[in-house]
Amino acid sequence: MLQAPRGTNDLIGEEAASHRRVEETAREVFESFGYEEIRVPVFEDVRLFQRSVGIATDIVEKEMFTFGSQEEGGETFALRPEFTAGVVRSLVERSVLQHKPFLKLWYIGPAFRKERPQKGRLRQFHQIGAEVFGSPDPLADTETLVVFTTILSRLGVAHAVRLNSIGCPSCRPAYRERLKKEAAGQLAERCDNCKNRYGRNVLRLLDCKNERCRALSEMLPGPLEMLCLPCRVHIDAVQKHAAAEGIVAAIDKRLVRGLDYYTRTVYEVTCPALGAQDAVGAGGRYDGLVEELGGPPTPAVGFAGGIERLVLAMQPPASAGNAAAVFAIYISPDLKERVFRIANRLRRKGISVAMLFDGHSLRSQFRAANRSGAAYALILGEEEARAGKVKVKNLKSSEEKEWPEDDLDSAFPPT
Ligand code: HAM
Repeated sequence: MLQAPRGTNDLIGEEAASHRRVEETAREVFESFGYEEIRVPVFEDVRLFQRSVGIATDIVEKEMFTFGSQEEGGETFALRPEFTAGVVRSLVERSVLQHKPFLKLWYIGPAFRKERPQKGRLRQFHQIGAEVFGSPDPLADTETLVVFTTILSRLGVAHAVRLNSIGCPSCRPAYRERLKKEAAGQLAERCDNCKNRYGRNVLRLLDCKNERCRALSEMLPGPLEMLCLPCRVHIDAVQKHAAAEGIVAAIDKRLVRGLDYYTRTVYEVTCPALGAQDAVGAGGRYDGLVEELGGPPTPAVGFAGGIERLVLAMQPPASAGNAAAVFAIYISPDLKERVFRIANRLRRKGISVAMLFDGHSLRSQFRAANRSGAAYALILGEEEARAGKVKVKNLKSSEEKEWPEDDLDSAFPPT
């Protein structure tokens, strides 16, 4: 039997509804903060991710789904492992920032990483995210945090925010050298991954998840200790503005993130109840990326949240949600087509109606109506049909009334 690829999900019914709830909540919040939507391709030239996410990152080294195109002269493409690179590519390619030097964008969609699948970690997952272009102000960093935590609160996701600064091109090189020096003596005791990263991306030693390596990282200086004054002032302001919004953003000196484009602010938002894959979202500032990809110097900051993890963490909605309001029942099969037409008439008036088609007894129709969560059953029998009437039963109170068939929509109060 053919099976879905490992690390992918089929979303049916309730599961799709949960994803939609996250998407709709996010959309409402993004728009209330004045962000505009952007949709970018699901695949891009692989070099885009190499130049932005970085060649020495796990994502680019081992997690991209790449494929070639014979017709197009051997170009290599990659399914997007994240959105930020594609968003920046699009703005640069279309010279958008020359006309709109301050721009706030949001997006929703699938992303792909060839990771080892486990709970909360998929190969096709979905992100919601936002990016702010054109402002170096720490208020922009804080705004992205406010946007994301507002979405989390509306979904009932308990969360904690960890914050750090990884400096800028003027202070990071000196920090990197110091880290290399101090970590050199630890290498023999560190895991193979750290040994491998030491030469190519030494900052990532700090966030190795291996227990022994974590303990060793505690003894190393964090980037915060060697920030230049403007970077220090910036991160202090982000934290202060966040606190004023009621967001407790605790400094985590080991937080460095797995993507290379960041400058200054980085943050991660976790939901501790989720277990091993507890990051529901993350983000930060990337002041050099637009220019790196050929655009005008443009400061930028943004975040992305993982929809699958948000679904695992969110509180169920107060009401069952998507049950039809009315369940339409025919007493005998000859009346099925008439009920079908009544149902469609009601649907055109905005009333949601469910019904069964094939070979269902009256009993099974009633059972289905009761299970469906519908508030009303609409019942058509021979006698009512002859009189141009329909029986309407309130499924909670069991109260029944007869209504003229052509005035039926007034039988159902708006919910
Ligand atoms: P990221 O930390 O790589 O950042 O991903 C953001 C979120 O996507 C994670 O916190 C997690 O919730 C979700 N996620 C990532 N990988 C998986 C996976 N394999 N399965 C399920 N969920 C996953 C970025 O992607 C950056 N582009 C964020 C950003 C936007 N920074 C600035 N702007």
